Amino acid sequence: MSSPFKSVPVRSSEITPKEIYLSRRDFIKAAGVVAGSMALAACAPDLAETTPESLAVDTGPAKTDELGDSANTFEEITNYNNYYEFSTNKEAVAPLAKGFTTAPWTVEVGGLVNKPKTFGMEDLLSMFTQEERIYRLRCVEAWSMVIPWNGFTLASLLKMVEPTSAAKYVRFETVYRPEEMKGQGSPFYPWPYQEGLRLDEAMNDLTLLATGIYGETMLAQNGAPIRLVVPWKYGFKSIKSIVKIELVAEKPNTLWNTTAANEYGFYANVNPAVDHPRWSQASERRIGEISRRATLPFNGYGEQVASLYEGMDLSLQF
Ligand code: MTE
Repeated sequence: MSSPFKSVPVRSSEITPKEIYLSRRDFIKAAGVVAGSMALAACAPDLAETTPESLAVDTGPAKTDELGDSANTFEEITNYNNYYEFSTNKEAVAPLAKGFTTAPWTVEVGGLVNKPKTFGMEDLLSMFTQEERIYRLRCVEAWSMVIPWNGFTLASLLKMVEPTSAAKYVRFETVYRPEEMKGQGSPFYPWPYQEGLRLDEAMNDLTLLATGIYGETMLAQNGAPIRLVVPWKYGFKSIKSIVKIELVAEKPNTLWNTTAANEYGFYANVNPAVDHPRWSQASERRIGEISRRATLPFNGYGEQVASLYEGMDLSLQF
């Protein structure tokens, strides 16, 4: 079956008011500040805070990723979403997800582990060190954002439940609640949404369980109350609204791989050299920018993760 992922993203000017998409980032560029070093990035808040442009989008001091790219605005991050349980229309997700029940919420962690445990959200927030991670999110549809997540490492959770030596993969499952998520009535997808990682990918320090954005509790459209973030992989690996995490011996099925195996691989590492069968992956459109930018191998995180794939033929990983 051909996937309905659309190859031509909507221009940001169609989805956000002008004062929002002409964000702090554009001002900083216009002011001739060349991003790229932490020292320069550290200067950005002062510049941004004195400009009229920034007032419409103020989410605190400007945040940048380690490449010096400014984070997208809170408005952009929360109004342009892929969440097929609510809608296949990115701008319709936020209004449809409003009021989605995110409390009480539990995450069952089990399978091939010594200490299976069901965690309440309160436990997850209090037991694990919450940190901010500013990551690039590169969607398989060739758009991207920079998002300041709050959360904790998946590794810290997995260590607590003690995977056995038989555990080789981690399987994730989104809540199944068709009465609240009308998209789950669609017969075209094998609900609930499922994803998976190899255990060493899951244990990598970059792999995050996110519970917030810009220091705010995660909104429903972004996968509240808890979602995965795997920044070196296409965005569809970063499964939202997780209720179950299972350690397993075999590679798990995933929603997109089951739906269109020729288009969505299990690994799905961001790779500009391997095109999607229906569009190029060589470049991407950063939401809030007009011109396209080159896509980086592993979305720019190669130093941290390329070694996980030594000996694998990456020309086959899409
Ligand atoms: N998780 C679930 N359960 N359902 C989805 O439709 N979409 C994925 C991923 N996680 C999706 C999901 C895709 S394709 C992307 S690009 C990201 O979520 C988008 O995350 P964002 O809306 O927070 O930017």
